[in-house]
Amino acid sequence: MIKLGVLASGRGSNFQSIIDSIDRGALDAEIACLVTDNRSAYAIERARLHKIPHVYINPAGYASRDIFYRDIADELQFCGVELVVLAGFMRVVKKPLIDAFPMRIMNIHPALLPSFKGLNAQKQALDYGVRIAGCTVHFVDEGVDSGPIILQEAVPVFSDDTEESLSARILESEHRIYPLAIKLFIEGKLRVTGNIVKIGD
Ligand code: GAR
Repeated sequence: MIKLGVLASGRGSNFQSIIDSIDRGALDAEIACLVTDNRSAYAIERARLHKIPHVYINPAGYASRDIFYRDIADELQFCGVELVVLAGFMRVVKKPLIDAFPMRIMNIHPALLPSFKGLNAQKQALDYGVRIAGCTVHFVDEGVDSGPIILQEAVPVFSDDTEESLSARILESEHRIYPLAIKLFIEGKLRVTGNIVKIGD
């Protein structure tokens, strides 16, 4: 059974969707550890409720981002993690962590990449006036919300949408495709060539 390490900064609803998928037998995985950079993240409460080991790593305690990410990588490796899952981890991951888990870090972003990278992606989509929005699961490289795309799901944008209503609609898609992307990884069905992910046996 594969060991996952989850990194989350806040609410942790994507973390919860992965927990739920494991609990109902849809994902053959174990969450070996939750790492958070936010002492008051609700994700910690979710980890407690499900008896998942969790650790808070205080970014303010580090002289450099590289050392911060080296410590996170050490923690994940100590827990035997094979796939790192960024679930609302609101930081750009740096080289020491990427090098420790090459093509073994996934992220979910609330936009159809490569559109609307960075923060407040749903607001960016509304401000641009797009008719279709959505979410993307991708492997993480050193760029911001770049890296090979694994899965995407589109949702409609309605004329009376607010940032909240659109975010909620996208979040439902997130909770569907993130566990699915992890399942494809576990089953060995993701082949990465350059920036392209091929899905198949
Ligand atoms: C999600 O919408 C996720 O896509 C987004 O933060 C939210 C976290 O929600 N991530 C990013 O914007 C990363 N660039 P959650 O804590 O309830 O999973």
